[in-house]
Amino acid sequence: MIWEEEHYEMSTLSEEATLPVPEAPASAPKVRYLLHDGELVDYHDARLHVLSTTLKYGVGVFEGFRAYWSEDEKQLYAFRVGDHMRRLVDSMRVVEIDGPQDVDVLTEQLLGLVRANELRGNLHMRAQVFVDSSDGKPEDTGPATVFMAAIPMGNYFGATGLDVQISSWARLSDRSMPPRIKSIANYQNGRLAMLEARRNGYDAALLMTESGHVAEGAGYNVFMVRKGRLCTPPTTDSILEGITRDSVLHLARTELGLDVDIRPIDRTELYSADEVFVCGSAAEVNHVTSVDRTPIGSGGVGELTARLQRLYLDAVVGRAAADQGWAQPVYPA
Ligand SMILES: Cc1ncc(COP(=O)(O)O)c(C=O)c1O
Repeated sequence: MIWEEEHYEMSTLSEEATLPVPEAPASAPKVRYLLHDGELVDYHDARLHVLSTTLKYGVGVFEGFRAYWSEDEKQLYAFRVGDHMRRLVDSMRVVEIDGPQDVDVLTEQLLGLVRANELRGNLHMRAQVFVDSSDGKPEDTGPATVFMAAIPMGNYFGATGLDVQISSWARLSDRSMPPRIKSIANYQNGRLAMLEARRNGYDAALLMTESGHVAEGAGYNVFMVRKGRLCTPPTTDSILEGITRDSVLHLARTELGLDVDIRPIDRTELYSADEVFVCGSAAEVNHVTSVDRTPIGSGGVGELTARLQRLYLDAVVGRAAADQGWAQPVYPA
């Protein structure tokens, strides 16, 4: 019997083999605390059970957001945290996780974590909602457990621009796994695209919808400038409803007076675009130098992309679109 063979091998192993002693982590954590259900915990003590629904079936939602240090003002600004927390609550609703719903409480918990770690520099933050049912079933909706992290982080991509491949993997669709929300399971799709792109010598991947329109990348939305028009795919074309995308749209319209086209984009429109850029909380606003080895524009950062990049980096510390209240001071003035 197979079971007996396995059992025999296991007991032989436990009697004869010396178990390896775990080594100390290679790199020390960059912060002392994480947050678990609103309580500060040591970085190493934030744990989830191995038989939880989240680990067995990939049920969970999260947010990724940024805070930026202003050296002039000696202040840290967290960017659109309330909007991210609202999306987290939306994500929970779509995948049916009975987690906390109060956006203000979630926001204050995260900012409290940053203060507890005394972080004064650019950073990346995460809020993750998992289902921690012991020996969980896929349809369990709770108990929900919330982890938050705030970790120092500089640029995600370098400033040299991205060589992008159109992936052979299709972007998942709202008929199967809704890309509109940040469900952890969605990231298998982007991961496959990134692995393929890296294998083929590219920096990043863009995925198309099942019906052949440009959707988005593994962790970023996409814009192009073509025939003098700024264009981006609609939220019904298999994309995350990106908060950076929304910020860029607002900045383009209000600060630059542009009329933006939100419409389906064909693959070959990218090949003949004057400018292409991707955007996301981690990716910020980053220019694309080529798509499938077809150079975009001059190969450098395009004029409109550069203006939007500057405006975005001003907005994150409250120097642009200040009336929107996007940049939230973390420390008392
Ligand atoms: C798949 C995907 N698309 C787009 C984005 C950009 O979204 P946001 O600007 O809200 O960070 C992200 C990043 O979170 C993402 O993971």
